[in-house]
Amino acid sequence: MLSIKELQEKITLAFSKQTFKGEPSLLYAPIDYTLSQSGKRLRPLLVLIACEMFQGDIEKAINPALGLEIFHNFTLLHDDIMDKAPIRRGKDTVYKKWNTNIAILSGDAMFILAYDYVIKTDPTLLPELLRLFNKTAIEVCEGQQYDMDFETQNNVSIDDYINMIRLKTAVLLGCSLKAGAIIAGANKNDIENIYEFGVNIGIAFQLKDDLLDVYSDVKKFGKITGGDIVTNKKTFLYLKAFELAKEEILSKLKKFFSLDESDSNIKINGVKAIYNELNIEELTLIEMQSYYDKAITNLNKIKIQDERKQNLLLFTERLMKRES
Ligand code: IPE
Ligand code: IPE
Ligand code: MG
Ligand code: MG
Ligand code: MG
Repeated sequence: MLSIKELQEKITLAFSKQTFKGEPSLLYAPIDYTLSQSGKRLRPLLVLIACEMFQGDIEKAINPALGLEIFHNFTLLHDDIMDKAPIRRGKDTVYKKWNTNIAILSGDAMFILAYDYVIKTDPTLLPELLRLFNKTAIEVCEGQQYDMDFETQNNVSIDDYINMIRLKTAVLLGCSLKAGAIIAGANKNDIENIYEFGVNIGIAFQLKDDLLDVYSDVKKFGKITGGDIVTNKKTFLYLKAFELAKEEILSKLKKFFSLDESDSNIKINGVKAIYNELNIEELTLIEMQSYYDKAITNLNKIKIQDERKQNLLLFTERLMKRES
C-alpha cells in the first residue's frame, strides 16, 4: 500500500503536468493562479486513499481526483466574493487581485474544467460518478445559500447550522471518498459507509474551520481571522455563545452583532472576549470530537482488514489537529 505522502506526490505530479494557461488571459490567468497555489489538496487525496483502501487502480482515480480539487477551487473563487474575503492561502483572493466579474467567470470555467477531469475515467463508471458529482455540486450550492441566508437570520438553530455545513462542505469530502470507492469497485454497503464517514469528518472539518476563523495564527491559516464575526456568520461558536450567554453578556453580544462593518476590530475583539469567557473554543472541540466519533463508527462498519484502513485513520487524525 502506498503511504499518504506517496499519494500526495502522485497528486502533485499529476497537477504539475497540467496547464491552465490560455486565451483570453483574463479568463485563464486566475485559474492558473489558483490551481498553482499550495492548497492542502485534501479532496483528491481522499479519492486516492479510498481507491487504494478498496484495492482499486489508482491511475483510474487520478483524473476524477483532480476534477474534484478543481471543483473545490471554483467554489472558493465564488465563496470569497460572497464572504468579502481579501486573503486566501496567504495571497490576494481572485476578486481582489482582478475583479468580481473575472472571479465569477473564471470560477464558471473551472466548474466546467472540473467535469472534463471527472469524466476521464472508466466509461462504465461514468453514470454513477456523474450522478454523485451533480448531487454533490447542487448540495454545495444549497449549503452556500443557507450560509448567506443565515447572515441576516436570528432564529438559526445548531441543527440548522449542522445541516448547512453538511451541505456546503461535508458532502464534498464524502463525495471524494465515495468516488474513490466506486472507482475501486467496492461493494454498496462499504461505499455508503465510507460516504457517511466522509460527511462526518467533513462536519468536524468545518467546525474546525469556524474555530480557526477566530483562533488561528494567520500566517499558518492563510486567511484573515475574524471574518465570520464581521459578516455575522451563524457559526457553531456564535450559536453556542448565544445559547449560553445570560443578562449582561447577552446584551453585550447583541450589541456587538448590531455594529456595522466599519467597527470591525471592536466587534471582533469584543466577541472573542465573550467566546473566551464562555469557553466556546473547548465546546467547539467537543462538538468536533462527537462527529469524529460518529465517523469512526462508520469506518468500523466497513468490511475490510483493519490495516487497509490505516491511511484514512491517520489522515483523519491529522485533519482534526490541523492549524491551516
Ligand atoms: C476551505 O477548504 C473551504 C472550506 C470548506 C472550509 P480547505 O481548508 O480545504 O482549503 P484549501 O484548499 O486547503 O486552501
Ligand atoms: C466554505 O466555507 C465552503 C465552500 C467554499 C463551499 P467558508 O466560507 O467558511 O470557507 P473559507 O473559510 O472561506 O475557506
Ligand atoms: Mg463562505
Ligand atoms: Mg469563506
Ligand atoms: Mg471559514
